[in-house]
Amino acid sequence: MSDAVLEVENLTRRFGDFTAVDGISFEIRKGETFGFLGPNGAGKSTTIRMLCGVLAPTSGSARALGRDLFTQGQLVRARMGYMSQKSSLLTDLTVAENLAFFGSLYGLSGERLKAETTHRLREMQVWALRDQLVSSLSTGERQRVSLAAATLHEPEVLFLDEPTSGVDPLRRRLFWEAMADLIDDGMTILVTTHNLGEADQCDRLAFILGGRLVASGSPSRLKAGLGRRVLALRTPEYRRLQEAARAIPGVLSAVLQGRSVRLAYAEDGDPGAILRSVASLGLPFAPGEPELPSLEDVFVDLVDQGRIPR
Ligand SMILES: Nc1ncnc2c1ncn2[C@@H]1O[C@H](COP(=O)(O)OP(=O)(O)O)[C@@H](O)[C@H]1O
Ligand SMILES: [Mg+2]
Repeated sequence: MSDAVLEVENLTRRFGDFTAVDGISFEIRKGETFGFLGPNGAGKSTTIRMLCGVLAPTSGSARALGRDLFTQGQLVRARMGYMSQKSSLLTDLTVAENLAFFGSLYGLSGERLKAETTHRLREMQVWALRDQLVSSLSTGERQRVSLAAATLHEPEVLFLDEPTSGVDPLRRRLFWEAMADLIDDGMTILVTTHNLGEADQCDRLAFILGGRLVASGSPSRLKAGLGRRVLALRTPEYRRLQEAARAIPGVLSAVLQGRSVRLAYAEDGDPGAILRSVASLGLPFAPGEPELPSLEDVFVDLVDQGRIPR
């Protein structure tokens, strides 16, 4: 038996003659954190909005928790949570008032509402803010309050649409730390992000481009799937080294990352020979050990294959 919590098949959405989501299929297993990665306009939010029942699909099917989402959705919606890209908090209410409001939408009241509110606000590390107006909170704080609101009814499946957009890396880490308990509790999560560091924390990823799913798998499988290894060379002469290294036999690409040049070569290639060729250029550099490509390398490769428009 499949342990898929969410099964999406050939999901398509058109707006007039524009196809925003073009036959997307994927499965998410129980307890997985599944990341949607892709540039603006790729179709991530449209997909999520269809799965949340906010938007009707043009065609295709989706099952969640064993039910057909588009014909029996009302039977499972209460077991799903959604945090949209734009905060849906009411800014002139306090944090606690917001949670009471969202709780009532989910049918929570009395002691249960109180207990869940306390639990979630503490878990998201915003308990101290409970009597503050949402309008006085920072973006990062609002995002964690939004997450508390979206999980108040203990959903089994959670949709997070760019939950950390517009916050700095520290705030972003706080958000993911707050998520750790949810993940631990076995919640199944679909999260969209632009951030490759966040994507690396997901169990599996799907790259969405132009409404289509062009690559998917665990971060390590996607990286290994390139069939490449990378040598990261630190050098003060990074521009000259990058330029010259491109001509070295066996070097497939030379990409700058900070002051390092990342040389990609075939996984059955000879890193020793490449390093000797680099040394013969006469430029100073500190060699690194051969490593697997990063998600950024995967992304660059999808661009090079023409799967992502430049
Ligand atoms: N209601 C709508 N009417 C017309 N076009 C839309 C609508 N919603 C989204 N789109 C278009 O669909 C494409 C995908 O949008 P979206 O799913 O929001 O992308 P993403 O979330 O990946 O940035 C975009 O080109 C967007 O302009
Ligand atoms: Mg979006």
